[in-house]
Amino acid sequence: MKIKNTTYPSNLIQGPLAGVSCGPFRALAWEWGKPAFAYTEMSSCKNLINKPKHLQRRFTEKHPDEGPLGFQLSSNNADELGLATKIVTDCGADLIDLNCGCPVKKIRSKAAGSHLLSEPGKIYKFITAMKNNTDRPVSIKIRVDADSNDNFNQDMAKAIADAQPDFITVHGRHWTHKYDVDCAYDDIAFFVDALNIPVIGNGDVACLDSLKRMFATGCAGVMIGRASVGQPWLFAELKAQINGDTFTPPSTAIIGTLFLKHLAGLCDLLQTEKSAIIQARCFAKYYARKLEFKEDFCSAFNQCTDLKTAQQVIERYFGIVTLNKII
Ligand SMILES: Cc1cc2nc3c(=O)[nH]c(=O)nc-3n(C[C@H](O)[C@H](O)[C@H](O)COP(=O)(O)O)c2cc1C
Repeated sequence: MKIKNTTYPSNLIQGPLAGVSCGPFRALAWEWGKPAFAYTEMSSCKNLINKPKHLQRRFTEKHPDEGPLGFQLSSNNADELGLATKIVTDCGADLIDLNCGCPVKKIRSKAAGSHLLSEPGKIYKFITAMKNNTDRPVSIKIRVDADSNDNFNQDMAKAIADAQPDFITVHGRHWTHKYDVDCAYDDIAFFVDALNIPVIGNGDVACLDSLKRMFATGCAGVMIGRASVGQPWLFAELKAQINGDTFTPPSTAIIGTLFLKHLAGLCDLLQTEKSAIIQARCFAKYYARKLEFKEDFCSAFNQCTDLKTAQQVIERYFGIVTLNKII
């Protein structure tokens, strides 16, 4: 997959996930799966500009063990966006994205995120502001009309064609849609046909079948969000499967050690055990996907307030202690 001047050896991408995709998570994705690149959590341009640097570590710090990194920004002001683009370029961003799809009320009320879908006239200004402040590839991540009464696909495609970002990502759902609504592959294919830049397809890819269905839209690459949480090897597994190679996923005990490593990385990044454990509660269920006693594990983990107990709970449920004894 070629984006601007770079050819990536993979066309699978780790998507931005607020509350999840900070350095320790991405380092595991890189170590185990080697996606083409991964994204930070969405960062507010205002915060990047105004908040002290040490409070922005989670959003700006590139982990020493990770590959190419896209920074995702949120804004509805071209000057702010330009300044934040410069800041993240200096932080080592390999790519820079503007979020135009976030459905959260707090973001939409600031006229950012998916609110930008109703303001295609601003897209040219925003993309130009990003381009003028970096030599890295710039992109936007959007949602689609799907089967709503909003008709923004055509207008967005025209605005994007005029502004010429280096690529775009299309999540095939309307911004009001929850995950129980199917991904609209036709809408993704519409953007592929309408534009002469690479389009990354996104939505519900979790296995070889869903990956093939997404590539059938004609997209140049595929972004994976939720499915790689707790299974950072997913990119490697899908790459192997698409090439017809066999892939052996890690054992339960290894998955537990990945969770422990993730947790240790969060402690280091967030500086307090409590904040690390609170953040880890959001994705404990993903590491526990295949555990026989998943519900019991999640409920035990949710009660942990210190690192030592959290480690013991992970070791017990993932059989890590048993494994050590055997060895
Ligand atoms: C917990 C969570 C946090 C998310 N945070 C962001 C975000 O910060 N920026 C963004 O563009 N999308 C965000 N998304 C959307 C995902 O990047 C992705 O577009 C969506 O989950 C569909 O892809 P998937 O089916 O592969 O998960 C988030 C999704 C989840 C579940």
